Amino acid sequence: MSKTPVYTTTNGKPISDPFSTQRVSIEKEGYQYAPPVGPLLVQDFKLIDSLANFDRERIPERVVHAKGAGAFGYFEVTDDISDICCSKFLDTIGKKTRTFTRFSTVGGEKGSSDTARDPRGFATKFYTEEGNLDLVYNNTPIFFIRDPTKFPHFIHTQKRNPQTNLKDANMFWDYLTANPESLHQVMYLFSNRGTPANLRAMNGYSGHSYKWYNSKGEWQYVQVHFKSTLGFKTLNNEEAGELDKKNPDHHTKDLFDAIAQGDYPVWDCYIQTMTQDEAKKLPFSVFDLTKVWPHKDFPLRHFGRLVLNENPQNYFAEVEQAAFSPSNTVPGMEASNDPVLQSRLFSYPDTHRHRLGANFVQIPVNCPLKSGSFAPQIRDGPMCVNGNLGATPNYAGAYNCPVQYTAQAKPSGSKPDEQYQGEVVPFHWEVTDYDFSQPGKLWDVLGKQPGEQDALAHNVAVHVINAIEPIQERVCEYFSKANPEIGEKIHNELQSLRRSGKM
Ligand code: NDP
Ligand code: HEM
Repeated sequence: MSKTPVYTTTNGKPISDPFSTQRVSIEKEGYQYAPPVGPLLVQDFKLIDSLANFDRERIPERVVHAKGAGAFGYFEVTDDISDICCSKFLDTIGKKTRTFTRFSTVGGEKGSSDTARDPRGFATKFYTEEGNLDLVYNNTPIFFIRDPTKFPHFIHTQKRNPQTNLKDANMFWDYLTANPESLHQVMYLFSNRGTPANLRAMNGYSGHSYKWYNSKGEWQYVQVHFKSTLGFKTLNNEEAGELDKKNPDHHTKDLFDAIAQGDYPVWDCYIQTMTQDEAKKLPFSVFDLTKVWPHKDFPLRHFGRLVLNENPQNYFAEVEQAAFSPSNTVPGMEASNDPVLQSRLFSYPDTHRHRLGANFVQIPVNCPLKSGSFAPQIRDGPMCVNGNLGATPNYAGAYNCPVQYTAQAKPSGSKPDEQYQGEVVPFHWEVTDYDFSQPGKLWDVLGKQPGEQDALAHNVAVHVINAIEPIQERVCEYFSKANPEIGEKIHNELQSLRRSGKM
């Protein structure tokens, strides 16, 4: 029997000529050309089937992080951290867990440039024996906001103007300068790390504080760092622009080609840990996403490595349909009270139901390992393709269907959680001078590497030159809060751009 597949319509009917259409033949007489054919017939299911499916090929793109590239791989435990975390996938040195990672830019559309100045998403799904764990990180250790209500406002300003449909430097900088807790992230973004050389040579950071439990039920705050074994390689502003002109999909191609050639990217995985008592003594809130945990106070501890060694077979099925959420945790790991993280726990599954449909978890790339698990609460819904749990009861605790209730996020005997008592208040996180202290330290870090401070000033100036002058002045004041030298350098750079007419 031939192994060559048979071309069919969607109901499986073999088709002899995929490109013919059913048309009414007409009298030849009077027509110069052949064949003589009249109108098309709606009964031509082969054609209608093909066109109707084509019409429905697009799903909504992600509202943020729309442009991305991904690959399968594995996570390997290299060090024992059982004193910190009791998740089973971490319980043995050498244990490997299959993963899927998607990298992305944030603000651009699905077809936008890979080399744009933007944070990069770094999302990894771990298919563990205790369910899917998603680490939905960025390549920056901090973020623009710490009040989740600001997220839609902030994102709107980084996208297109509602009238012109153009990127708009006025609204971009207007928002940021009016919300100066963003400064730390903006400095990171406008340093050369805002234009990574490729996706393989950049780091990933949890940004948020998470809570991890050991088997005694003791918990600590944890931040995770994925550090590329290639180091963090960057482009300068002009190199990024040139690369964009040559190939706007440069990062996607680089990742695919490297994996295809067996040059697998590797990240060393570390945690920083902090007890609740240590958190109380911090000069900032442990739930403040605009802050890092200083390395000298909270040193990195190695626990594993992430290797990407398998390209997707089909981009749409596996990369476009991948659905990551910080709410996908496994026993031993929990979200902290960081309000941005708490909001994300809602937002991701919500957008997945919109973007992919209520049964998005049945899509193979999103499906947890199945053996022995039973979730009868999830039934029916559009595009239910997994047998819908057959004849088993659609509720837990049925007399004829015993179910085990086993692992919990918190092991038994857990230390009491944080306790809060007080009035419900409309909290607005005020900006204080301390908020500019870590951006000031970042300026010093950049100062240790030749040209990095000047690059930051240049990268800001060539962007903000497109805004009106009062906003340009606000931008200089904004950066001066970290160190007056930055504002001065940007001011000088702006003047020289104006003089040279490069605007
Ligand atoms: P240290 O002063 O001990 O070390 C500086 C760290 O900064 C490095 O470990 C490196 O982190 C990162 N770094 C190096 N070069 C650059 C660069 N060109 N652009 C951005 N980051 C760079 O760090 P501290 O913990 O005391 O933090 C000082 C400042 O460093 C912070 O305010 C923060 O802006 C930045 N930083 C801190 C991180 C943290 O988690 N503590 C992580 C990244 C940046 P890495 O090896 O992770 O690249
Ligand atoms: C993607 C919301 C903050 C990392 C997304 C998506 C939404 C979203 C709706 C699209 C998801 C999809 O369609 O599958 C939010 C909200 C935030 C927030 C409401 C704050 C209130 C953050 C932060 C980080 C982050 C702080 C990193 C620390 C990512 C990543 C993706 C993403 C990596 C892409 C995931 C993928 O590759 O599919 N976010 N986000 N986000 N977000 Fe956030």
